[in-house]
Order: sequence, then C-alpha cells, then structure tokens
Amino acid sequence: MAFLECQDLIKLYIEEQSKIQVPALRGIELAVNEGDLIAIIGPSGSGKSTLVNLIGGIDRPSSGEIILGEDIVTKMNSRQLTQYRRKRVGFLYQLPERNLIWNLTALKNVMLPMKLSGSWTYSEQKQRAMQLLEDVGLDRRIHHKPPQLSGGEAQRAGIAVALANDPDIVLADEPTGELDSVTTMKIIDYFKSLNKSLGKTFIVVTHDYRFANMTKKAMRILDGRIVGLHRAIDPTTSLAAREEVIYVDDHGNLRLPDEIRQQAGIKNHIQIEMREGFATLIPVRGDTSD
Ligand SMILES: Nc1ncnc2c1ncn2[C@@H]1O[C@H](COP(=O)(O)OP(=O)(O)O)[C@@H](O)[C@H]1O
Ligand SMILES: [Mg+2]
Repeated sequence: MAFLECQDLIKLYIEEQSKIQVPALRGIELAVNEGDLIAIIGPSGSGKSTLVNLIGGIDRPSSGEIILGEDIVTKMNSRQLTQYRRKRVGFLYQLPERNLIWNLTALKNVMLPMKLSGSWTYSEQKQRAMQLLEDVGLDRRIHHKPPQLSGGEAQRAGIAVALANDPDIVLADEPTGELDSVTTMKIIDYFKSLNKSLGKTFIVVTHDYRFANMTKKAMRILDGRIVGLHRAIDPTTSLAAREEVIYVDDHGNLRLPDEIRQQAGIKNHIQIEMREGFATLIPVRGDTSD
C-alpha cells in the first residue's frame, strides 16, 4: 500500500444555472509513495484543482476513497478534516496573495500556520520559520513583506509557509503559473532539493510541461482521468531506439502517448504478440477506424 492512495475518485459538480452535472473527475487512481515528488500535468479544465482540493481535504469526492498513511481521509468528519488540512497538508497556489498575508513579514507568514495549529512553542515557531526561509534562500528577506519580494521570492516564501507545520504532503496547484522561465526553473530546483533534503512528499499539478523533465514521475491528467505517464521525449531519438514505459491502470487500460501513436502509425487497433513471456505491441497496418 502506498503512502497516499486515491481509489476510483469521482467528483461531479452541479452547474448552478443549468443544473447539469459536470464530471470533473471520472475515476482517478493514484498511488504516491512517501518522499515522492510527482507532477500531474494536464490542460485547463482537466480536473487538477479538483484533485488537489480532494486530496487536501478542502472538498469531498462524490465517490471513491483517499487514504493517507493510516487514515481514510474520505471518512473523516468535518472537525477531523479541518485538523487534517491544518496539520498534515501544505498548500501552495499560483497567486502569492493566496499563499501569503500581505501585511506580514516573511517570517511572520511562515510562523502563522504554526501558531494556528497550536503544536509549537513561540521559540520553535521562530526557529523553524527562520530555518525554512533559509532553506528556500530567503534568509536575507525574513523581515520583508510580500510586496517587497519578487514573484519568485514570494513563491519561495509560499513554499516555506506550506512546509511550516511539517505536513505529510505538500500540494502545489500551478505553482509557477505566474513566473517567467528562469524563475520557474529555479522554483523547480527548490522543489527538487527540498524533496531530497526533507524527504517530503510533493504533488505538483500544472499545465506546465517543463515539469515532466524535472520529476522522476510525471503523469498526465485529461478529462478527469489519469491517462498515462508523461515522460520527456527527445524528438531526435527514433522510436525504434527507445524503450517506453506506459502506465496501465487497475482495469488494464493503457494509453499510448500521442507521439508514439503518430510515429508508429497506430490508430484504433494494436496487435499484441506474445512470445516467451514478452508481449510486443505491433501497429495494425491499414488501421483506419474503429
Ligand atoms: N465549483 C464548480 N462548479 C461546477 N463546475 C466546476 C467547479 N469547479 C470546477 N468545475 C469544472 O470541473 C472541471 C475541472 O475543473 P478544475 O479541477 O478546476 O480543472 P483544472 O484545475 O485542471 O483547470 C472543469 O470542467 C470545470 O469547469
Ligand atoms: Mg486549476
């Protein structure tokens, strides 16, 4: 059993005016090990924020189960869920205004969640906040308020806030959406190094495909489903020279990356040749329709 498991998560929203059901998640299966850094990449509307809100205990699924460590998050009552959100999850959002309180210094911002959780003494709060700000390279900015920080610095302060209560898991929703390329890369590097040094589990949901190159594991989400592993593919390598690992869900469904389908000329059918325990997938020649 993995550290975090999402089992067949379904989330339907009811559209206010039309009363039509909008399926935001259609059966998410996800297993994340402790200390993983994973990216879930998908276009706008694919269900990323919905998934983060469910894992983070901000919202509840229509059906399905979320299990973190020993606890079934989806069975918690609202009081337990509040505790869970406060102590066990760290959140990082796209907009600094959502991560930081504007008129508090960086130091006070990082201390605030610790204060609210009631689990730390004042001196622990302060010491820990200073350490975390140092970890994100802001040791010389601790007395600055968010308006005095650059976009990248504000996001790094946000990471320190997310880590403040020593959560089991950090959930980042489009954390680099507002940043330029260089700053984005720097933030990605901080995720990587914190993941390594703290052994903390990070899930980043984003439409930014550059994350695929940076995490060992990147998944794709499309129309409320995890549709495969996303791996950076070097377009100069010929298909024959590549070995691909493709995600197969618990029901045996697999999804071939578009690049592979195109290069191999696969439309709707594929032939599987079994030989000596190996299965080889062969495109069906002249395959044009269902
Ligand atoms: N509160 C809501 N009410 C109705 N539909 C919603 C609500 N929130 C999200 N949706 C719909 O659910 C789908 C997934 O949304 P979201 O999780 O925000 O995707 P993403 O974060 O990948 O852009 C979209 O079709 C969106 O319009
Ligand atoms: Mg979103």
